[in-house]
Amino acid sequence: MITVEPRLGGPVSGDAIPPVDYLSWYVPRLQENRPHDLSQSGFAHQWDVDLDTQEMLGFWNSGEDPAKWVAERHGVDLNQVCIAHGTCQALSLAILAALPEDGPRVVGVEMPSFAVVSQCARLLGCEVIPFHRGPNSGPWTLNREEVMEILPKVGAIAFTPVMNPTGEMISEEDQDWLIKVTTEAGVNIVSDEVYLDAAKGTEFYRPMYLRSNNAISINSLTKTYGLGPLRFGWMIGDPKFIQYARNAFQNMQGMTSAPSVSIAGAVFPRLDEALDAIWEARENNLPKLMQVLDTHGIEWTPPPFGIFGAFSIGTDAVQAMAEYGKPLGLLATPGGMFHADLGDYLRIGWGGDAESFEAAMPVLSQFLTSIHEGNA
Ligand SMILES: Cc1ncc(COP(=O)(O)O)c(C=O)c1O
Repeated sequence: MITVEPRLGGPVSGDAIPPVDYLSWYVPRLQENRPHDLSQSGFAHQWDVDLDTQEMLGFWNSGEDPAKWVAERHGVDLNQVCIAHGTCQALSLAILAALPEDGPRVVGVEMPSFAVVSQCARLLGCEVIPFHRGPNSGPWTLNREEVMEILPKVGAIAFTPVMNPTGEMISEEDQDWLIKVTTEAGVNIVSDEVYLDAAKGTEFYRPMYLRSNNAISINSLTKTYGLGPLRFGWMIGDPKFIQYARNAFQNMQGMTSAPSVSIAGAVFPRLDEALDAIWEARENNLPKLMQVLDTHGIEWTPPPFGIFGAFSIGTDAVQAMAEYGKPLGLLATPGGMFHADLGDYLRIGWGGDAESFEAAMPVLSQFLTSIHEGNA
């Protein structure tokens, strides 16, 4: 197996700063512009905004406050919101805010995970140590024993309720248990909720800021709203954490990009359009994927909401992508990027437009046939 999982460990700088192997793998392949791209964990939504360049650049003279848009949408107070440039930046700021001043500079990170969630604290002078939700402890359940073991050693933990690459929401029991034991241990939580809004309106929509006082919820327009390149995200939490995060933002970034915020402002009143379109894409595309998997005898229950999921293809997915995916013009994401034990998993996104998704299905089917023939 070729493993490219997140690189946990101690504090780093200079030569020791690890790459995000997933991005080193993914970005060049994305740039190949393969005709059948099932690699996207974000939604492909076409937003149309009509903004003048000078108006965008002058945003900070407009008197508007983007934190207010977020506060109104989420029904929280203005002092519970801090704006940032996407989830990735917010993760570092939230970890800094969540770490108690006199606590250990150690962060417990959930695995499997998107490497930015689990590696970034190393660049902030922290050690990162893992705890697991699956694959070692049953079907995506939290390894509670492991959590109890690391709690006395950490100042904060970072996790992703809707896990990448599986798209599975943490169970309500595990979520409440995690809040209870971290609160008792005086450990704060950084919760990357970048995929959670796809669950709005269902029982699975359980952002941490609604349930706990020791968590910072992070979200953005990147994934469920299809605006990854905008780099517009936010944190919601207790006002004291949010003030710490704002101070960290000022030290590390100064100001938010005016054009990004302007575009975000133009789409904010219409965000629910994207959420409705996600359910439509799911309804159109997911049955087609299930049919292909069924033909190949792959048994899999997709997550109950959202636009991506991961299943085993029975062989190393990095190698299979290189050997069979590339010649077919197919791109999908190997699970080993998120945890070594998911090396034979493939993450498929079904948030693309109906026509391209349909066109990709025979190609995915050929890919699975090639693996089968190659292994025979
Ligand atoms: C769990 C998770 N968080 C954050 C991101 C990136 O978010 P952003 O583009 O808002 O920085 C990704 C992207 O794949 C992700 O999977």
